[in-house]
Amino acid sequence: MLQERVSNDQPTRRWQDFVVPQRWESFTEEDHSVWDLLFARQVDVLGTRVVSPFIEGIDLLRLSHPGIPEVAELNAILEPRTGWRTVAVPGLVPDDIFFAMLVERVFPIGNFIRKREQLDYLEAPDCFHDLFGHIPMLAHERFAAMVQHVGRIGLAAVESGEAWRVARLYWHSVEFGLAKEEEALKILGAGLASSFGESLFSLENKTVERLPFSVEAAVNTPYRPDAFQPRYLVSESFDKTIADILALTPEQLLTL
Ligand SMILES: [Fe+2]
Repeated sequence: MLQERVSNDQPTRRWQDFVVPQRWESFTEEDHSVWDLLFARQVDVLGTRVVSPFIEGIDLLRLSHPGIPEVAELNAILEPRTGWRTVAVPGLVPDDIFFAMLVERVFPIGNFIRKREQLDYLEAPDCFHDLFGHIPMLAHERFAAMVQHVGRIGLAAVESGEAWRVARLYWHSVEFGLAKEEEALKILGAGLASSFGESLFSLENKTVERLPFSVEAAVNTPYRPDAFQPRYLVSESFDKTIADILALTPEQLLTL
């Protein structure tokens, strides 16, 4: 997940320096059983509430296998398909590093999982959020291209000191976006797809605001990193979100 605050005081650092071994063998039986519990619960709650490429990605990447996925095994399926691969990181990475990873089609995965006592509470995104929420969509060719493009405009925005603009765009699409699919309201974003409580809340709460998505609306809509969102942006379609973001240039982003 994107870290909210920008820390760009070390321009020469490399994204590779933030990568750590996943150390899959160090996950305990309890860790794996927490994953299985989260996975079963989330697949059940999502049902058909999520855009169809997400479900296709779950199947394609064989994420329903029991236990926390091993990054190398996942990459063996993902990389030949869309050129994306995952790497383990110890927690949130700075914005410039995150966007530099996206440009290279590298997605960072937390190398830890929440405890059973914290199934619904997270101080930082763990491997369930990162792997279950984000990776299925990266098996979709056009969505995968869109996320790489977010990396490109993100790096440019960081360099201009305007990272907040791309942070909002990312938040209202890749993390907490909703999208219509054959007139039905569906979950698009990873933050929603991986959240038991907010997945239902975002679709069914009667008082929360749901406004039309556009790149301009996203950039001009603040968000809450610490609570359920007070408003969601709804895209006309999954494909429209992709097309709109792919068409955005770094220069345009700064003028919205
Ligand atoms: Fe995320």
